[in-house]
Amino acid sequence: MSFDPRQMYATFRSVVRFREIDTDPVSRRLARCVTVDDMRRIAKRRLPRGVFDYIDGGAEDEVTMRRNSEGFGALRFRPNVLRDVSEIDTSVDFMGTRLPMPLMLSPTGYTRITHSQGELAVARAAASAGLPYSLSTMATRSIEDVAAAAPNGNHWFQVYTWKDRDLVAELVGRAKAAGYRGLWLTVDTAVLGRRERDVRRGYTIPPKIGPGTIIDGIVHPGWTLDFITNPPIMFANVAGREGHDEDGSDPIVLAEHIMRNFDQRLSWDDVAWLRSLWDGPIVLKGIQTVDDARRAVDAGVEGIALSNHGGRQLDYAPSPVDIIEPVATAVGEQVTIICDGGVRRGSDIVKALALGADMCSIGRPYLYAMGAAGERGVAHLLDFFRDGMERTMALSGRRSIDEIDRDLVEWAL
Ligand SMILES: Cc1cc2nc3c(=O)[nH]c(=O)nc-3n(C[C@H](O)[C@H](O)[C@H](O)COP(=O)(O)O)c2cc1C
Repeated sequence: MSFDPRQMYATFRSVVRFREIDTDPVSRRLARCVTVDDMRRIAKRRLPRGVFDYIDGGAEDEVTMRRNSEGFGALRFRPNVLRDVSEIDTSVDFMGTRLPMPLMLSPTGYTRITHSQGELAVARAAASAGLPYSLSTMATRSIEDVAAAAPNGNHWFQVYTWKDRDLVAELVGRAKAAGYRGLWLTVDTAVLGRRERDVRRGYTIPPKIGPGTIIDGIVHPGWTLDFITNPPIMFANVAGREGHDEDGSDPIVLAEHIMRNFDQRLSWDDVAWLRSLWDGPIVLKGIQTVDDARRAVDAGVEGIALSNHGGRQLDYAPSPVDIIEPVATAVGEQVTIICDGGVRRGSDIVKALALGADMCSIGRPYLYAMGAAGERGVAHLLDFFRDGMERTMALSGRRSIDEIDRDLVEWAL
């Protein structure tokens, strides 16, 4: 047998191609982020354990937290074929604005613990994708800084009702002055749920330094360098107020802090009070029963977020996906319904809409994305949801949001 190097090279090339070497570490990391779970895994590797558990954990046995995403797995599609799906339109009307898709980013407190850019990065990525973002009262960047970071953003402000009502009124006034579109009033946090991963670690905000923390910092050098070379993290909107020092250096145990400052007497009357301060749309975040959905409509709010705070408050509470249909049947014509919790794929958004939701919202997925790759991680995540939604619609024969109907899904036996 004769040895022909050119022939061998041609044979070799017919089965093997060398990849171009990517010199950008972030884009290399993103190439491995094919699902939300991949981002979670990378965030877990990059963040100190206490920080990761603060994001990832839920209340008590975490039964509700798990069900939030597993509930979507209990739905099957009934796709229709042979429909022209050459054009797929995921756009939707949401409270007076046309959005490229029915997805928004939920409020999360202390976001800067995942990446030094914190809420600024989330707001920029959301604005680039044309999607709304709700800033938390417990944010680590101020209402005004977030508005300035993404001047074209569709910003919402999430209200926690403090005992100090003047502070709430002041925050709402600042949100109005900064051009925020609407409010989310969180109604499921009279006291803090027992997040046992945090209790076990004695987790404080900011984390207290002990031998364990130092070792954790050494084995997560990327995060540690980012953390120590940037200004101290603080609750930017309430710094200097009751229970908060000016520079964020006093560690806070979240449960104690909420007990001291949040108003446990919060009631339906307070919804009317908030309405008197704000003439734009209000969403009640944390509705978990049909009865309360009806009361929300009676209270005159424009939206309800079916939510259990990502399973971080009352364990064994119902999951959003399980209550969309009964709530939509009862009040779907009167109020915008947002499914907030457990959404991990574009196909989950399609399922939620088929059951009667108008919109979905995500929390942890963008925190994992931040931990994995900062703002670029969040942009990558939002592309992933958009792409997944388009593909699901094409494969199930639905060309626009209006065509996503109840016939599209059934509960698996
Ligand atoms: C780390 C973390 C912090 C949160 N902080 C807030 C908050 O400040 N205000 C609020 O209304 N909800 C907060 N939430 C709940 C989210 O807004 C949202 O309801 C939840 O994350 C949705 O579930 P998902 O994480 O499965 O997407 C937080 C959630 C997480 C994971």
